[in-house]
Amino acid sequence: MNILDSLNWRYATKRMTGEKVPQEKVDIILEAARLAPTGSGIQPFSIIQITDKALLEKIQPIAFNQAQITEASHLLVFAAWDAVTPEKIDYVYDQIVHERNLPADALKEYTDRLKGMLTTLPREQQYNWAARQTYIAFGVAIAAAATEKVDTTPMEGFKNAELDQLLGLHEKGLRSTSLLTIGHRDTVNDWLANLKKVRRPKEELVIEL
Ligand SMILES: Cc1cc2nc3c(=O)[nH]c(=O)nc-3n(C[C@H](O)[C@H](O)[C@H](O)COP(=O)(O)O)c2cc1C
Repeated sequence: MNILDSLNWRYATKRMTGEKVPQEKVDIILEAARLAPTGSGIQPFSIIQITDKALLEKIQPIAFNQAQITEASHLLVFAAWDAVTPEKIDYVYDQIVHERNLPADALKEYTDRLKGMLTTLPREQQYNWAARQTYIAFGVAIAAAATEKVDTTPMEGFKNAELDQLLGLHEKGLRSTSLLTIGHRDTVNDWLANLKKVRRPKEELVIEL
């Protein structure tokens, strides 16, 4: 299947079968998210993988009792940094300098500029910037799953603060942005399984100048 066939095949699955998705396939989805581009390559987020049924049952009411939470094989929680600090930027760029065998101060001018732009923003805006980067990886993960013929549901329908508390994200310097359930569609019980995919027409979506 080419990418367009895969994207037409996928849909935001409402009911899943509970069947396990092999970890190798989930690892491909996670690797695709890891390879996603982000602003200045900072990757200001973590992805939490959850398979523990008891924990998923605790998450379900926080996500308005959506069935996919417990019918999924895996749940991924995308969580953005709650702040972008100079230390975090240095940590990322130290790794780049090391892995590319660059002189220690080769990127100092650039990182100083980055720190000036990002770490001086009000904290909520730092988080918002990080959250936007998170969504790039989120989208790439959804597309990657489709190419593996694995179903997903992207979700924002949950109470972020309650989930953060349950998972102890605050202590990790993270705030949840979105959820991705991973599993297989239940074609018998999913009302959406056979409905036409509807999108705005290209002529309307794309503005040619
Ligand atoms: C950021 C985001 C949040 C979403 N939140 C939910 C959700 O909480 N529950 C749900 O069932 N679908 C959710 N969806 C699915 C969308 O409604 C769905 O992607 C959209 O209607 C397009 O349909 P399709 O994905 O089936 O092609 C979400 C999608 C995105 C991208």
